[in-house]
Amino acid sequence: MASLTDFFNAITICDQNEHLTYLNMRTKYVIGNWKMNTDLSSGLKLVEEIFEIAQHTDSEHIKVVLCSPFTHLSELGKFLQKLPHFSLGAQNTSHKKNGALTGEISVEMLKSVGVEYIIVGHSERRDHFRESDEMIKAKVDLILEEGMKPVFCCGEPKEIREADQQNAYVLKQIENALFHLPAEQITKVVLAYEPVWAIGTGLTANTDQIQAMHQTIRQALAQKYGQTIADEISILYGGSCKASNAPEIFGLTDVDGGLIGGASLIANEFVNIISAHQK
Ligand code: PGA
Repeated sequence: MASLTDFFNAITICDQNEHLTYLNMRTKYVIGNWKMNTDLSSGLKLVEEIFEIAQHTDSEHIKVVLCSPFTHLSELGKFLQKLPHFSLGAQNTSHKKNGALTGEISVEMLKSVGVEYIIVGHSERRDHFRESDEMIKAKVDLILEEGMKPVFCCGEPKEIREADQQNAYVLKQIENALFHLPAEQITKVVLAYEPVWAIGTGLTANTDQIQAMHQTIRQALAQKYGQTIADEISILYGGSCKASNAPEIFGLTDVDGGLIGGASLIANEFVNIISAHQK
């Protein structure tokens, strides 16, 4: 008997235009990753500025997520309630549920202050804090268990790109941390491709490199979960994304928005990145 996936795939093949409309229905994101920047008062001021400018733009069709330091989350959450398409995000969480882990912050704690999204697998955590695929996988599971959304980062370092091994490298990261998930869970994950050599360096991957990698990732998702599921999953780009290059990057077929570091700390620049998404 044909599965539901086969049925949808058949419709997709029958009607290419309908398929394109479907692709456009993927949720579009702009996610700000403040990293270890701002204190509480400058963080709140930044959000007020972003709100002030964003109010006058046509940005309701984009999901904006602000990932502040842990210390700001509770206060920031109150501000974010004012704009329905803004959500609260955290930059990290513990890979354990609770217990004697001095200094760690659990998924449950983050949920209790209104966090909906949590970044996992960022290269800065993989590199500086030795986070393994196993740990990242455990974090993904805990986040999904609480009904929240992981923003899963993957990306190759410079030497891997220079050796032209980036596809195998990135797909292994995805396979190790995500491919144990059933289909109904994988659709709750937001993926972010962030080439390590482009993060905070001012060096952006070119549009051919970005589209090629995003397409490779989507094909791998389709192979594992079927095309319909793969077409539902948002894949963001991160790495020196700014207002000047966002329109070109966000216009690529398999790019569904951006994970923004440095540029998310400048209100005007960040809102211009949000506006770069065409309806
Ligand atoms: P960047 O950082 O925009 O400053 O390059 C992106 C990220 O680390 O998520």
